[in-house]
Amino acid sequence: MAPKPSLPAVLVLQLQLLLLPGPAPVRSSSPLPLVLNTWPFRNATEAAWKTLALGGSSLDAVEGGCASCEVEQCDGTVGFGGSPDESGETTLDAMLMEGTTMNVGAVGDLRRIKNAIGVARKVLEHTTHTLLVGESATKFAQSMGFVDEDLSTKDSRALHSDWLAQNFVSLLPAVLVSPFVYISYQAVEYMRRGKDPTTACQKVIARIQKYFPNFFGAVICANVTGGYGAACNKLPAFTQFSFMVYNSLKSQPTEEKVDCI
Ligand SMILES: *[C@@H]1O[C@H](CO)[C@@H](O)[C@H](O)[C@H]1NC(C)=O
Repeated sequence: MAPKPSLPAVLVLQLQLLLLPGPAPVRSSSPLPLVLNTWPFRNATEAAWKTLALGGSSLDAVEGGCASCEVEQCDGTVGFGGSPDESGETTLDAMLMEGTTMNVGAVGDLRRIKNAIGVARKVLEHTTHTLLVGESATKFAQSMGFVDEDLSTKDSRALHSDWLAQNFVSLLPAVLVSPFVYISYQAVEYMRRGKDPTTACQKVIARIQKYFPNFFGAVICANVTGGYGAACNKLPAFTQFSFMVYNSLKSQPTEEKVDCI
């Protein structure tokens, strides 16, 4: 019988954290539970694992791991003070999905609230919506007790000034985003048909390469037995992709790397 699939994590330049539930997270011969996140953000992995060890749910662990990066501004690509928009404001996006129910909570273009993943969790648990955006997301966050704060920093203001000075006229094309929903779906389908996670990841990357040879991206795949793998599209400035792994076979968050194809 082909192994049952599980959700792969996909990234475009941001943090993605994937958690497969399992028995209590003590060292044992089972590779579950499994925590995976994109990029070498060790403290995020650790935070997710610790949350589980303290009896938290998978959702708690994903929220805790992402929140740790929001506070640390991992790489400058997560949390406040990151990539400002055209008007110079940093806005945040976050999403979490509960794998057993497929329920989703998400915020997009969230303004003036630092803990975007926390707000996404509230959208999941306290509304019938899946996605709240912009000022509506902020209003909802305020009603849930989140505090308004300036998300700009010296760094984000400098990024914006540089951008203005270079007089860029175009933003990233929206088409960059759309293939990534497809990647997740296709990777899961490959695993459902019996491919191991690494092969599933490589096959989806290869398919995207046909249409977007210069896309910047990687994918991590995991199956329900705790197997995982990753692949990335090789570019001159992106030849290896790093991700973090923590499972019961490991005593600490472990960075793994894959050569891009
Ligand atoms: C990770 O956590 C440690 C201990 O709390 C801290 O000293 C370190 O600065 C953190 N790493 C990053 C990249 O923020």
